[in-house]
Amino acid sequence: MTHDKSLATATAQIMRASASASHRPSIAGFFDEATNTVSYVVHDPATKEAAIIDSVLDFEAASGRTSNGSADLIIEYITSNNLKVIWLIETHAHADHISAAPYLQDKLGGKLAIGREIIRVQEVFGKLFNAGTDFERDGSQFDKLFDDGETFQIGELEGIALHVPGHTPADMAFIIGDAAFVGDTIFMPDFGTARADFPGGDAHQLFRSIRRLLSLPDETRLFLCHDYKAPGRDDYAWETTVKQQREENVHVKDGVTEEDFVAMRNSRDKTLAMPKLIMPSVQVNIRGGRLPEPEDNGVSYIKIPVNAV
Ligand SMILES: [Fe+2]
Repeated sequence: MTHDKSLATATAQIMRASASASHRPSIAGFFDEATNTVSYVVHDPATKEAAIIDSVLDFEAASGRTSNGSADLIIEYITSNNLKVIWLIETHAHADHISAAPYLQDKLGGKLAIGREIIRVQEVFGKLFNAGTDFERDGSQFDKLFDDGETFQIGELEGIALHVPGHTPADMAFIIGDAAFVGDTIFMPDFGTARADFPGGDAHQLFRSIRRLLSLPDETRLFLCHDYKAPGRDDYAWETTVKQQREENVHVKDGVTEEDFVAMRNSRDKTLAMPKLIMPSVQVNIRGGRLPEPEDNGVSYIKIPVNAV
């Protein structure tokens, strides 16, 4: 096995945080029932510096109207706790909801960040949507592109980004103190894992990314991007641990081979419908959450490619 330097750095960070409360973040989850998405505000209690992870802009597809109810709940939380937003983080270019990052950045400040491989996602979807040359495919819509193993700070808290492709090529997990925000990789143990059938997705890669995350210390807190409940469970849930996932995850617990996982994932993905908001979400999120350039009448339009996907 090759030495995974990023993973070793992440492990050391998590062990420091597990040993000392001052290295652990305060975390608030905001669940959006319309898209089953969990957004997080993560902050350093000592300095009040904060990151907002995977925010949601409300969007009604039938009328094409956006609204800010979900984002305003986050603003209310930030202001009532006197937090200072340093980062607006996207774990990936989401296909099921539009990001509220530009709206939040405008109100609260902070730098907008995503994984470096967003460039590949922009390439693929830029082609699909026949975006003009004004759509830059270099990640420049974001303030910061994270590489695997790159570290960052939120006040006195340590953070590190891990590249965990498979659901999309750009997926990153962001580990802050002892808490890992794993995006669309793994879900609650009774539900399993994220799909791997979007353009650029790969079930083999997803398995390896998840097993990499599950080689972090047992006590690592995992915070998920989505929850859909599961048969026999009536409440939404989005926090678990490495230990619990290794023992119980219905798709990737210890002992499941890559071959078995890939066969299961690929056959399950064939049965899944496209997310309702995939076309608007992807078009907007590859632009850092900004709507396509308005046309000469001042209105932005969302395209739907016909018979192309
Ligand atoms: Fe996703």
